[in-house]
Amino acid sequence: MPATATATIDELISDSLKRTDEANLRRKYSGQDEFVIVDEFMPQEVLSRWQTELETLKPYIHRNYLPGHKKGGSIAYETVNALAPSITGFYHSAPLLGFLRRVVGAEINECPSNDPHRCALYAYTEEGDHMGWHYDTSYYKDRRWTVLVGLKDESSSRLLCRLHTRDPDRDVVQLELQIKPGMLVIFNGDKVYHAVAPLQKGESRYIVSMQYVTTGEMNPFMRFVSNMKDAVAYFGIRGVFGKGKAP
Ligand SMILES: [Fe+2]
Repeated sequence: MPATATATIDELISDSLKRTDEANLRRKYSGQDEFVIVDEFMPQEVLSRWQTELETLKPYIHRNYLPGHKKGGSIAYETVNALAPSITGFYHSAPLLGFLRRVVGAEINECPSNDPHRCALYAYTEEGDHMGWHYDTSYYKDRRWTVLVGLKDESSSRLLCRLHTRDPDRDVVQLELQIKPGMLVIFNGDKVYHAVAPLQKGESRYIVSMQYVTTGEMNPFMRFVSNMKDAVAYFGIRGVFGKGKAP
């Protein structure tokens, strides 16, 4: 397969999948209460395209600060899609979706197109940027998965995870992870309690977060709650209710 600028994202992912031990990942995923890391998954060519597109995205980062909860920047799907087609191309990739379905053992699909989190950029660029402890709670009628992809990391910050928190028969396992560029972290959002440790001065860290669900159905009240949370905590009113696209 040609690892050139002309190769499609699907071709490059299919290439990467040939080197991926899926049986081992599936075992780890179920043994770790629906959480698994895939190191060096991202094809180098795709990662290079992402890093080029990151420079285009940077002026559109929406900063937000919720005391005691989070501080950082983010860009919603619509803008990422308009300015960084390799990033959303990865999200929409059929070979990637097939791989994720096999690892998590469920017929997951992309989030509906009106969900600004479906494929979004998170930017930690200022001292103290962080994310407090939380679950990626599903507002949908069924389960929701998060797939984090490392884009660029020039920081000492770590993703902190607690596994088995809702299983009374297991001891909680705490992890501190550097999400290296090209790494995937796949987990069921309602099971893995997680946080991002504060950034130090002069550091930066960029992550792409992708969301998948078994059903895109959500009752209207939960849609309202979800939109308000996104407008306040993540993308701003324009990013959620208005046209968050680049001019
Ligand atoms: Fe999260």
